[in-house]
Amino acid sequence: MSSEWKNRKVTVKVPASTANLGPGFDTLGMALSLYAWIEMSASDETSFRFYGGNMEGLPKDKTNLLYKVAQKVFDEAGVSLPELDIAMYSEIPLTRGLGSSAAAIVGSLAAANALIGGPLTDDRLFQIATELEGHPDNVGASMFGGIVVSAWDGQRADYVRLEPHSRLETLVAIPSFQLATKQARHALPKEVPMADAVFNVGRSSLLVAALAAGQLELIGSAMRDRLHQPYRAALIPGMSAILERAAEFGALGAALSGAGPTLIAFADADSADKTRLERFLTDTLGAEGIEAETIWLKPAAAGAELTIEDNREDGQPSLPDRIKGEACR
Ligand code: HSE
Repeated sequence: MSSEWKNRKVTVKVPASTANLGPGFDTLGMALSLYAWIEMSASDETSFRFYGGNMEGLPKDKTNLLYKVAQKVFDEAGVSLPELDIAMYSEIPLTRGLGSSAAAIVGSLAAANALIGGPLTDDRLFQIATELEGHPDNVGASMFGGIVVSAWDGQRADYVRLEPHSRLETLVAIPSFQLATKQARHALPKEVPMADAVFNVGRSSLLVAALAAGQLELIGSAMRDRLHQPYRAALIPGMSAILERAAEFGALGAALSGAGPTLIAFADADSADKTRLERFLTDTLGAEGIEAETIWLKPAAAGAELTIEDNREDGQPSLPDRIKGEACR
């Protein structure tokens, strides 16, 4: 092991994300104030510690995603660092459409890069993350924070980051069941009618312009979608009613979060209807026999945030103790 990095410990805090925002399928993402923390250091023997809900099933050997992603960075940088000590604390529920895998990929890329002195640029890390995830929407938001508009042609992802409006707030309703992205993508048709494609170009463009111009009153109409949500509706009972009626309960707009099953409503932070909206989402899913946890989240302006400690003494507090007070669940 190179002595240069022996006593370095890197901690990365990465936000969750919501993808698509309705019409921007595989294109739009927004970072949310729910986080995963990843701690990484070089070691004599690879080991993993996971903290937080539903991470029991994650592999604790070199097949682990965090480990494999870190090795990609080292390979590209021409560095050999085969043994790593990795800890993760995550409050982002797995397989619910809140970008848990994107946060893990971005966190591991950023941590591994910082561990070896940052040879890869943020843009390069974003390209690798996009290729690993298969689309740029969640990884872009987790990496850069705010709202990220990106287009990927399989070779390169170009992006623009927008600052979220200060009054924008979101309510997520996280159903108790999991839905794999693969299954939710499988529900999509190979081809769509031209009229639907044109509809989505219009809505997605309008949404980006409204978000950039701070015209929150346009969000509801701009968040409509014909490319993926209608095809996924059968997988998430209650979704169609929520998308159709959320505005009646004070939402600015509503969408399926990523591939679901989480539903996300956008609201004005100063709205007097927040409790009513929350009850509407819970009751609508409840009527379908679906239990859901609701959480109010702010757009996260910051993307992956690094803390680098050199010459760290042994006996420091564990990751959960270090982040106590910052975590919300
Ligand atoms: N854009 C992706 C989808 C997000 O809707 O399938 C999944 O994480």
